[in-house]
Amino acid sequence: MGNTNNFTHPMSLFISSVFCIFALFSEAANTITQGQQIKDSENHTIISSGRIFELGFFSPDDSSSRYVGIWYFNIAAKTIVWVANRENPIAKRDGILTIGEDGNLILLDGNGNSIWSSNLSTNTSYSAATLMDSGDLMLSSNDSIGDPNKAYWRSFDHPTDTFLPGMKARLNGTQENHMFKSWKSSTDPSAGNFTMGVDSRDPPQIVIWENTKRRWRSGHWNGLEFLGVPDMKGLYYYGFKLVTDDDGTKYFAFTTQSSSQLLRFRITYDGYEKELLWNETSKEWTLLQSQPNNSCEEYNKCGDFGRCTAEGSPICSCLKGFKPKNSDEWSKGNWSGGCVRESLLQCQTNNSMKSDGFWELKNVKLPDFADLVLVKDVDECRERCLGNCSCNAYAYVDGINCMIWNGNLVDNLQFEEDAYGRSLYIRLSHSELGGESNIILIIIIVVLAVFGALLLSISIWVLWRCRPKLKGSSVSRKEDNEIPVFDNNKSKEYSTECFSSEIISDMSGGGPELPLFNFNCIAVATNYFSNENMLGQGGFGPVYKGKLPGGQDIAVKRLSKKSGQGILEFKNEIILIARLQHRNLVRLLGCCIEEEEKMLIYEYMPNKSLNSFIFDPAKQAQLDWSKRFSIIEGIARGLLYLHRDSRLRIIHRDLKAGNILLNEEMNPKISDFGMARIFGGNQNEANTVRVVGTYGYMAPEYAMEGLFSVKSDVYSFGVLVLEIVSGRRCTSVQQTENLNLIRRAWNLWQENKGLELLDPSIKDSCSENEVLRCIQVGLLCVQDSALNRPTMSSVMLMLEGESISLPLPREPTFTSMRCSIDKDLFMESLEAVSSNNISLSTVIGR
Ligand SMILES: *[C@@H]1O[C@H](CO)[C@@H](O)[C@H](O)[C@H]1NC(C)=O
Ligand SMILES: *[C@@H]1O[C@H](CO)[C@@H](O)[C@H](O)[C@H]1NC(C)=O
Ligand SMILES: *[C@@H]1O[C@H](CO)[C@@H](O)[C@H](O)[C@H]1NC(C)=O
Ligand SMILES: *[C@@H]1O[C@H](CO)[C@@H](O)[C@H](O)[C@H]1NC(C)=O
Ligand SMILES: *[C@@H]1O[C@H](CO)[C@@H](O)[C@H](O)[C@H]1NC(C)=O
Ligand SMILES: *[C@@H]1O[C@H](CO)[C@@H](O)[C@H](O)[C@H]1NC(C)=O
Ligand SMILES: *[C@@H]1O[C@H](CO)[C@@H](O)[C@H](O)[C@H]1NC(C)=O
Ligand SMILES: *[C@@H]1O[C@H](CO)[C@@H](O)[C@H](O)[C@H]1NC(C)=O
Ligand SMILES: *[C@@H]1O[C@H](CO)[C@@H](O)[C@H](O)[C@H]1NC(C)=O
Ligand SMILES: *[C@@H]1O[C@H](CO)[C@@H](O)[C@H](O)[C@H]1NC(C)=O
Ligand SMILES: *[C@@H]1O[C@H](CO)[C@@H](O)[C@H](O)[C@H]1NC(C)=O
Repeated sequence: MGNTNNFTHPMSLFISSVFCIFALFSEAANTITQGQQIKDSENHTIISSGRIFELGFFSPDDSSSRYVGIWYFNIAAKTIVWVANRENPIAKRDGILTIGEDGNLILLDGNGNSIWSSNLSTNTSYSAATLMDSGDLMLSSNDSIGDPNKAYWRSFDHPTDTFLPGMKARLNGTQENHMFKSWKSSTDPSAGNFTMGVDSRDPPQIVIWENTKRRWRSGHWNGLEFLGVPDMKGLYYYGFKLVTDDDGTKYFAFTTQSSSQLLRFRITYDGYEKELLWNETSKEWTLLQSQPNNSCEEYNKCGDFGRCTAEGSPICSCLKGFKPKNSDEWSKGNWSGGCVRESLLQCQTNNSMKSDGFWELKNVKLPDFADLVLVKDVDECRERCLGNCSCNAYAYVDGINCMIWNGNLVDNLQFEEDAYGRSLYIRLSHSELGGESNIILIIIIVVLAVFGALLLSISIWVLWRCRPKLKGSSVSRKEDNEIPVFDNNKSKEYSTECFSSEIISDMSGGGPELPLFNFNCIAVATNYFSNENMLGQGGFGPVYKGKLPGGQDIAVKRLSKKSGQGILEFKNEIILIARLQHRNLVRLLGCCIEEEEKMLIYEYMPNKSLNSFIFDPAKQAQLDWSKRFSIIEGIARGLLYLHRDSRLRIIHRDLKAGNILLNEEMNPKISDFGMARIFGGNQNEANTVRVVGTYGYMAPEYAMEGLFSVKSDVYSFGVLVLEIVSGRRCTSVQQTENLNLIRRAWNLWQENKGLELLDPSIKDSCSENEVLRCIQVGLLCVQDSALNRPTMSSVMLMLEGESISLPLPREPTFTSMRCSIDKDLFMESLEAVSSNNISLSTVIGR
């Protein structure tokens, strides 16, 4: 009829342009408010404010069904991370997403039928649904838009198949939480047969299920990593962690290294967990890892008490002491029946012959369904297992403690040699342990005995021949001990002249010369390294007090033999270290090199170390607030010098209260600096490279990956600051409170109750501003990400500049469970991590 009017009428032109502007506007919005409609027919979408995610209607490939979903805004090939109506597609392009009168988010089809709803019984009018840059769709009242704490409903709590940064994969008591459900096929978002989630039995694991059957598991979480994922080292890089919520519930979450990184985990329709990272250059998703990665990783591939070895042929075998339950099936390659014991355990037969023992299976993914027992050491763990006949195996794992298997050993995966599984101790009857290899054993023993005798006679002969040459040395060596044993009687015969005629000096000629002490002088000075003179036992060897003939007090550090350096390199390092001079560093007076014996002679600090004050209730009050503050400043200055001002750029790597010494005036002096250069800084000697440091003070990236930088020292400094302020050890286990120091500091600071952290014995002397500033600086230094931690020079500025406003720290999560499980130094489990040749020397920056 009169439809031409529409094109000519000026008013209608006006209306349609207004409409266009409105449409444009609504497309860029990130929020749906009550009354607004997202219409499929109009191609409406909402986009998160940072233009990262987009929500709207889509059809999967090869399908015309319409779904509401969330995808990455900037990625051309639509990557769906969430689907609302996965079970209930809309047939035509006529769906409408809106907020109903009761405040619920609802999806209607063209006829106004409800297809999907957020299904809350809330009763707020005025709701708004906001798409966040995290990919989370949040429903809240319109006066608290985007506030996750006030959201009624979040798509993150109702995920489909994708685990995004910031999502919480919750532990559910001791139950399973099948949180992520796969699509049915690559083109059908409805829930498929595979789920991924958390098995909350302590210690928790990530599991993939096929319906209710397990298909893959990550292995147990030890506070840092999942023990069954050899690639997990890389994962911490992406910030995987177990977090305890305010209400005491726990969840796994991960963060990306930088906010611009797009990273996701997905359970695919065919049952694989995939970790994918977007590569902006190649415009592709890079597969970081995929599980199960080979058929050995499929759950319990070889049955109970079986063992799967990926390179094996066949891949399945029975554990030692076990035989196939059904040997016909087993030989046909049907391993599902598993294995049974070949001979009963002593405790099962009441045969009082010999008690059962354990056989160590190295480098395995520990079996499923462990019982956790808290014990004090590995021996007690073993006892616990021996004491209960139903115990089939045990393992003692750092970060977890004692695990005991009372049922079958299920899903035993043997890793390759260089992977880093843990050791499982399997209980076997005595006959299994000794029995079968007796003859071989006897042969070996005979051969060894003959060989040993030969060796002994040769060495006696050699010793006898070389006697005159050895005379100068008064040191005899004990095989296993790292420290040579001193022979008191002999040494008295020799000169106690102190300074050797030799002086070691820098090759280049410049710089200070360093006296070389005679061994015997040092021996006499320390009363032959007597126990009474021992000041302490550090990671690099014991320290003794000594008095030189002139009356000067010295401290002697006797380095353990494993320094892995020759004399020449050692001297060069010492010269470099001796050049480091600063009022907040302990001064090196000289060194002593005699055969394998290497010692460093330092000035003696009468007040010993900081930890003998701040953690000692009787002495705490001697360090009032102003002293403590100046100690903090002094340490910061010393560290800044090491990091920046010295030519060497030394990373300390083991900064802790025990390494801060105090002189007469209670000025702090950092000791043990440069040790990392002597003990670990050489790439050619990967076997001597270990993660040095002290748990509790170790930065996450260092503890996990052996990656160290000046920022790992900053982390340790942060811990130290919090300890000095609070007078508590980061690593102490307090029965009354299970919060560690960093957690506690964070909580109090969050609640504006920072002053409660302060050591009560110095309450009166404190300056509230300084205390709060120190706590904030401490928290800035212990942030999880090394990037976010300040450098020592900014720390100095923050400490000194009263008027500077400090940045806000992020919540530290790494330490939330670690600190209470303190393990000093050289953690076995970490050696594997550190020995992978991470380029130590480049980080040190020679
Ligand atoms: C919506 O998008 C489809 C496909 O891109 C297009 O064919 C259609 O014309 C669009 N509709 C509107 C109202 O823009
Ligand atoms: C909403 O709740 C009703 C009844 O409580 C239930 O039948 C329906 O499946 C729920 N819908 C969704 C999407 O959860
Ligand atoms: C919600 O509020 C409306 C109007 O205020 C009221 O009629 C209705 O009963 C309420 N419903 C619920 C479940 O509280
Ligand atoms: C919330 O939405 C209602 C209805 O659109 C409006 O009347 C009210 O002012 C809004 N409140 C705020 C705080 O935006
Ligand atoms: C937690 O476990 C209980 C008991 O099995 C179950 O009913 C509930 O749905 C689970 N919750 C989640 C979030 O999985
Ligand atoms: C899912 O499991 C059911 C029951 O076990 C089975 O019938 C169906 O074929 C499976 N679907 C797929 C896609 O594997
Ligand atoms: C991204 O892709 C480009 C081109 O394929 C490649 O050179 C680059 O190494 C990739 N970046 C990452 C971080 O994988
Ligand atoms: C599969 O596992 C092997 C070693 O077990 C590893 O080298 C490889 O990178 C893994 N592949 C993926 C995609 O995770
Ligand atoms: C494998 O062996 C088990 C018994 O050990 C038997 O129940 C099962 O049917 C066998 N499977 C096949 C495919 O032969
Ligand atoms: C072992 O001895 C106990 C008590 O002497 C008895 O109850 C048990 O049946 C015996 N078990 C076996 C396997 O002989
Ligand atoms: C041995 O372990 C089983 C299984 O955990 C337990 O039921 C039983 O009480 C334990 N027995 C003893 C003596 O501790």
